[in-house]
This record gives sequence, structure tokens and C-alpha cells, in this order.
Amino acid sequence: MLDQKLIDSAPIPTHVAIIMDGNGRWAQQKHRPRLYGHKVGVESVQEIVEYASELGVKVLTLYAFSSENWKRPSTEVSGLMSLLKGYLLSELSKMLKNSVRLVSIGDIQKLPQDVREVLEKTIAETAGNDGLILNLALSYGGRSEIVQAVRKIASDVLAKRISLDEIDEKLITNHLYTSGLPEPDLLIRTGGEARLSNFLLWQASYAEIYFTDTMWPEFRREAFFRAIAEFQGRERRFGRTSAQLGSG
Ligand code: IPE
Ligand code: IPE
Ligand code: MG
Repeated sequence: MLDQKLIDSAPIPTHVAIIMDGNGRWAQQKHRPRLYGHKVGVESVQEIVEYASELGVKVLTLYAFSSENWKRPSTEVSGLMSLLKGYLLSELSKMLKNSVRLVSIGDIQKLPQDVREVLEKTIAETAGNDGLILNLALSYGGRSEIVQAVRKIASDVLAKRISLDEIDEKLITNHLYTSGLPEPDLLIRTGGEARLSNFLLWQASYAEIYFTDTMWPEFRREAFFRAIAEFQGRERRFGRTSAQLGSG
């Protein structure tokens, strides 16, 4: 069983970001279509959102669809889009009840119009909630996020709204989709691969990274707890030495 004491005695990560990978392979292992894996993956999303909220995680970012995932067969893309829409429609009442606030990062103009409308409506209806911030990365790519930030900053320089020496890390951070959110403390990737796949490239500079072979459809409360427990046992040095951290 879970050892709740460990969690209570050490800090819970403020921001957890998850690359939810392995749906397709999980389904194929069971001789089922890939979309079945995505469908069961939605149940994992429901369970992890609920648990993160209970644990007091402040921000949960879920990589649901990358800018590269548009290259998948159109049937898989449309299946994912309809699961996303269904998820948003079915979860709204729970979000309101649990005070979950939905936000999103990514190029959401690329989403089908009906999905975008439901997304924007859910974001608007949960905007006043002060519990967990559920941040969905949709049509998200870390490089294109940086490109759009650079364009905006360059146009501000050209228009003389800012000067060159005002460009610093904080300014760039504030021009990313994640502006206003804290950096991820813990970045989890399920599904056995050990790569970032264009996720939060700037923001994850000092995230603790946790890779697990567990496929996303099987990543439930216990698996999430293990990831948090491992996070709590790590020493985050941010370039300093252990001795410096010990002396505060
Ligand atoms: C993650 O599972 C979900 C999305 C990328 C949308 P995958 O669909 O990538 O599953 P695998 O990696 O093929 O098993
Ligand atoms: C990353 O998974 C994107 C999401 C989980 C949404 P992919 O399955 O698309 O990543 P690669 O292609 O294996 O790098
Ligand atoms: Mg994958």
C-alpha cells in the first residue's frame, strides 16, 4: 500500500509535467487498435488529475498532443481530437466541483474549430477556480513556442517598445505560452522512452526528470505516488554543492 507519511513529511512538487506516452503500444500489446489505448489513457488522466489535486500539486501540465503529432494518420488524429472534446465536455462539472482551473499551451488555432470552442469555453468557465491548474499542452512544441516568443520580442525591439538590453531570461520566460506559471519541478515520461520530444525545452532546465516503463493507460495513483516519492528523495542543487545547500 501507499506510504502516505513519506509524502506528508517532504515537499510536494508545485508543478508536475507529464509526457503521457505509450497508449498505442499498450493497446497493440493487447491486440487492440491504438485508439483503444488513447481511450483508456483518458481514464488515467481523470485519475491523475484527481490525485494531483488531492495531494496539493498546484500545476499539472499534461502533454496531450504535440505539434509533431499532426503527422500521424488522419484517423488517429481525429480520434484523439474527439476524445479530447469528449473529455472536456464530460469533466466540466467535476472541474467546477473540485475547483480545477483549465488552461492550455500550444498552437490551439490549429485544433478543429469545434474542439477549440469547447476548450475555450471550458477555460472561460473554470477561470475563477483557485484549486489545481490543469494545463493541457495541445498542438504544443517547445521550439515553435520559443520561435513565437522571439518574433514578439523582435517586433517590440523594432517598434522601440523595448531596448536590446531589456532582453533577459525573465523577459523570454514571460513571452512563452507558460507565462505566469512556475517552472516544472518534476517532469515524468511514461512509456519507456527517454527523450523530451519537444516538450517544455526552456522551462524544464532544472526539472527533476523521471522516466518510467509504465505505459500511460496503466499509470494510475500508485505509479504517480512512486514518482513523487522519488522526487522527494532527490537533492536539487541548481549548480551549487551539497554542502552549500546544507548551510542554507
Ligand atoms: C501518447 O501515446 C499519446 C499521444 C502522443 C497523443 P502514443 O500514441 O505516442 O503511444 P505509443 O508511444 O505509440 O505507444
Ligand atoms: C510525445 O509522445 C507527445 C505526447 C505524449 C503528446 P510521442 O509519442 O509523440 O513522441 P515520440 O514521437 O516517440 O518522440
Ligand atoms: Mg509515443
